[in-house]
Amino acid sequence: TAPKTITVLGQTYETDDFFNVPPSILSRLGPRPVLPYQSSHPLELLRTHIESTLSRCESLAAPSPIVSAESNFDDLGIAPDHPGRSPTDTYYINRQTCLRTHTSAHEVETFKAGKTRWLLTADVYRRDEIDASHYPIFHQMEGASNWSTAPGSTDFDEGGVVQKECEEMEARLEGAQIEIEDNVSLEDAGGWQKGHEADPVRRKAAELALRHLKATLNGLAYDLFGDRHAAEVAAAAAASQGSTAESSNDGAASEVSEPLRVRWISAFFPFTSPSFEVEVWFRGQWLEILGCGISQQSILDRASVQDRVGWAFGLGLERIAMVLYSIPDIRLFWSKDERFLRQFQQADQPTRMPKIDSSEAGVSDAGGNMDQRRKKLVTFRPYSKFPSCHKDVSFWLPKPDLVKDAGSDSSTTEPVEVASPPSFHENDLMELIRETAADLAEDVKLIDSFSHPKTGRVSKCYRINYRSMERSLENEEVNALHDVVVQRVRDELGVEIR
Ligand code: PHE
Repeated sequence: TAPKTITVLGQTYETDDFFNVPPSILSRLGPRPVLPYQSSHPLELLRTHIESTLSRCESLAAPSPIVSAESNFDDLGIAPDHPGRSPTDTYYINRQTCLRTHTSAHEVETFKAGKTRWLLTADVYRRDEIDASHYPIFHQMEGASNWSTAPGSTDFDEGGVVQKECEEMEARLEGAQIEIEDNVSLEDAGGWQKGHEADPVRRKAAELALRHLKATLNGLAYDLFGDRHAAEVAAAAAASQGSTAESSNDGAASEVSEPLRVRWISAFFPFTSPSFEVEVWFRGQWLEILGCGISQQSILDRASVQDRVGWAFGLGLERIAMVLYSIPDIRLFWSKDERFLRQFQQADQPTRMPKIDSSEAGVSDAGGNMDQRRKKLVTFRPYSKFPSCHKDVSFWLPKPDLVKDAGSDSSTTEPVEVASPPSFHENDLMELIRETAADLAEDVKLIDSFSHPKTGRVSKCYRINYRSMERSLENEEVNALHDVVVQRVRDELGVEIR
């Protein structure tokens, strides 16, 4: 049933046995600009906030989401048998071509194009579960900076550009309400790369690049979460004080403060070493905000910039925006509802205001915008949700392979050629539901799973929660939709409906 060729974004591709991009995804590759570039969208608000914090980086817009598997995986050192490469997790046009699963897919080509300090924001695609925080299309921002270690370059020298920037960024955080927990051992984080360890010049460069990475990302975490954290801590203190001691003097609560905690933990990425994840303590829990590290030499070599040393990071915009702006459901990012967009429009005003020439006052424009943004903490005020409706689908998984032992003599039946049984993968179910119900499927949960004591067959029951963000669903409509889901589950997943 797969088409022989498909044409997307003006390019025609031949498909093969790996082709697995459903129409719902294909139809959404077209519309550009992508959400983080649509005015008064929350992802635009977040993108521009990050870009003004990391203003030394050039901003690069999203290239086509269709990339070679080579640039998405191989160039980055992702092994051929890595589970993320499987067609259960990645959308493929053909064996050589996929929808990018992360913005790191563009690292090599961007370095090759001579870009040394950049941010690249783009749509990424992953086959995944269905719930309030997962959607097959989301957006990432990749950031990278590197500097020359070539003889004659002063970049990494004492008093050179990297060190100067480190000192500047560290000084800014010096008096800030931030507490950095950074006691990861280098070994746990993957250690220094061989090429860095063996050469004193490169080793020094890698150390300085890591210091720069840390100062940069601690600053970013603080700019994104600092004010909001402070405001929420103060508000909570005021609320609890109001309820316990009514006659307490005003103002005490607003003095309650608690620094923003930022934590560095070790991680593994094949394209960085050492590698880390950065988390912030926010609303009573650790929130992972990004992955990062010192770029692997092999990446820079492949881009023909082997003289350079630097860092890279990648972050998911939706995850951060959901927390920062209190957006409860990831589908809302796709909403055209005025009640949603209007709330971010207002927040967008500062960038639209006529530019005031502030050069005489010695204030940079970017800084001015940021302060205005920061004073305005945008929080989504949910409007009433339309009612939801849930339906269950239960089925037996394909029978376990009943092929007899070669030496078995107890059978009177003919030995049967058994093609390996169709295996059930949850992401296939998720996609089938998305294909049928589109965004009306709010979440899908496994609510029961058991294996029959005698036959060993496994039964699963999934609960699908249907809800529209835009309107009230009619009961008949949901029933009809669910009937189609059940039919397709039976016909396409090789399972037996119970
Ligand atoms: N690409 C990684 C991901 O999607 C994030 C990352 C980017 C990590 C750059 C390190 C450096 O999880």
